[in-house]
Amino acid sequence: MSHAESSQNKNRKILITSALPYANGPIHLGHMVEYIQTDIWARFQRLRGHSCIFAWADDAHGTPIMLRAQQEGIEPQELIDKMKAEHETDFNDFLISYDNFHSTHSEENKFFAEQIYLAAKEKGNITTKVVKQSYDPEANMFLPDRFVKGECPKCGTADQYGDNCESCGATYSTTELKNPYSVVSGATPIEKDSEHYFFKVSDYSDFLKEWVNGGAVQKEIANKMNEWLDGGLNDWDISRDAPYWGFKIPGTKDKYFYVWLDAPIGYIASFKNYCDKNPEINFDDYWAADAEDKTELYHFIGKDIAYFHTLFWPAVLKAGNFRVPTKVFCHGFLNVNGQKMSKSRGTFITARVFLDHLPAEPLRYYYAAKLSNTVDDIDLNLEDFQQRINSDLVGKVVNIASRCAGFISKKFDGNLSNSLADEALYQQFIDASDSIAEAYESRRYSKAMREIMALADLANQYVDEKQPWVLAKDEATLPEVQAICSQGLNMFRALITYLKPVLPELAEKSEAFLNAGELQWDSVESPLLGAEINKFKALMTRIEEDKVNAMLEANKILLAEAAVLQAKTSTQNGKEKGGSQVDSQLAQDPISPTIEYDDFAKIDLRVVKIIKAEHVEGADKLLQLTLDLGGENGGEQRNVFAGIKSAYDPAELEGKMTVMVANLAPRKMRFGTSEGMVLAAGPGGEDLFVLNPDEGALAGMRVK
Ligand code: MSP
Ligand code: ZN
Repeated sequence: MSHAESSQNKNRKILITSALPYANGPIHLGHMVEYIQTDIWARFQRLRGHSCIFAWADDAHGTPIMLRAQQEGIEPQELIDKMKAEHETDFNDFLISYDNFHSTHSEENKFFAEQIYLAAKEKGNITTKVVKQSYDPEANMFLPDRFVKGECPKCGTADQYGDNCESCGATYSTTELKNPYSVVSGATPIEKDSEHYFFKVSDYSDFLKEWVNGGAVQKEIANKMNEWLDGGLNDWDISRDAPYWGFKIPGTKDKYFYVWLDAPIGYIASFKNYCDKNPEINFDDYWAADAEDKTELYHFIGKDIAYFHTLFWPAVLKAGNFRVPTKVFCHGFLNVNGQKMSKSRGTFITARVFLDHLPAEPLRYYYAAKLSNTVDDIDLNLEDFQQRINSDLVGKVVNIASRCAGFISKKFDGNLSNSLADEALYQQFIDASDSIAEAYESRRYSKAMREIMALADLANQYVDEKQPWVLAKDEATLPEVQAICSQGLNMFRALITYLKPVLPELAEKSEAFLNAGELQWDSVESPLLGAEINKFKALMTRIEEDKVNAMLEANKILLAEAAVLQAKTSTQNGKEKGGSQVDSQLAQDPISPTIEYDDFAKIDLRVVKIIKAEHVEGADKLLQLTLDLGGENGGEQRNVFAGIKSAYDPAELEGKMTVMVANLAPRKMRFGTSEGMVLAAGPGGEDLFVLNPDEGALAGMRVK
């Protein structure tokens, strides 16, 4: 650990960031891993008496945002304003204590992006080249890889993205796709030349080698970066052609900065915006080239975007004459119940749905109990989650206070004793301070939580052994009860202090109960003695299983609703793609406008039985299904075309249950009339899922 980062050092000045969420989608529990990780670190630093500013923003540029605004029939500005408000509400409700949340579509960001670009140009780091790219002749726009789909050139799987096949794993270039189509208009893309601007990252190879290997990144990341550095760095394409939603490149007519150029510059812009509101903070102390000696700068990011933050970003900063990050902290991905978050499994859980059913602190604690300083993925197992909160927080930590507080208020007018009953035991709580602090500092939060819970076990054992409830029955031993419970409450106070970065609300309630002001990290050193505390109120309640289940159910409904909308927009856009009801885009990239509940309520979703499934002559994606709506409709049957041929053999479908939109207006297609829409979920290709056969009794049931 270098001098500047030593946690012993007083008055550190730290600036931290989280990666900027895209402004075209909701915040989900995967994002929250990072934002909670960052927040815990910020709160820890402040609790230790350091200055730690947390500044970030929404990532508001790029093609997906432009297209989504178009789909919703609104200006991009309106879309990003709406998303920003939603994101901030989610962050506040998850108790994220950021100091500033800005947008990359801001005056400040435009200013710095241009400044950095011009400085790089001045240094000779910018070059231009003509590149061939896919172009949508109907929408009149160049298409990013993700917006071209087609059949895999190796295995023939339909609906694959332009860079790799999800089914067989082959990688290829967009031009190799068979029967390619534009996701924007459905048209067949053509190849078109365009002049692009490039940043010559290799101009900074020597610096990058030094930086990457000088302790700025974790070992795993350094290894990966070294592979790239040793292989030689390609020039980085930083321009996109109009129409594009972003900043125009100075000196060009219709070239825009690629979203990843100005996104990290958003860190600088957000901080500048913060300084303008807080004149006591000096911008240059944090960002000027010589700021590295004065302040510390850390970026928290996920492993998927390490490349941008550890290769391009430091080079761009150098080119722009700014300081470079002290360190980049990279974390792994969130799995839910042991698997990748998935819309088809219903485990793509949004922050909002979670918060609608459960409080924020349990998730903060659970993530803390799982997080380390490695890039390993972490798992949110919902059963384990519930159990862990109930046993650790409710059963151990809060329990100590509830066991001791009653006696102090009832028998001693709320007064704590003047000395500790077991000083040696309390000393163990003081002695743990450095080790717990070091664990927080180095982002080994799981280690910190383990050490804190070990102390909680000690405290509970103490109360168990002393049995104050027995002693309280006898006048003669009553004084002992005061000493024992004061000891218990002081151990509780130490635990709360150590947990304060993770559980700020519990800490606040505990501070009110203990009636002795705000806890600081050092508060543990001086126990609370001879003081009067307030009446104990419940600090935290158990998590009931039905709350977790209700959350999952609500999330599934939300995903089904998104699927319906996605299906609608993809049929509109896809034209003769034959009413493909399920778009694999759903899995990766939901470009669905939000709807009100009333809109959703209009959709008549039914569980129905597939009584017949057949191939459709001349259609490469469609199956023709005969569906039985069963029950209350007296065995009504419908004919529906579904784009699920890639995933199912017709024979396999007969007798199975699926969900359909029963009140969709009939639609004339080339092969006949489709009287409704079947919902399936999954990433597409071979992975599309309808329901299972067992529950025949479900037929005709209304889903909502
Ligand atoms: N907009 C870019 C970041 C630009 S930073 C200058 C971006 N946005 S994102 O919304 O896709 O992701 C934001 C952050 O959340 C990233 O650090 C990403 O790694 C993290 N996560 C997104 N999904 C995640 C999980 N499932 N699990 C853990 N972190 C995840 O990338
Ligand atoms: Zn393939």
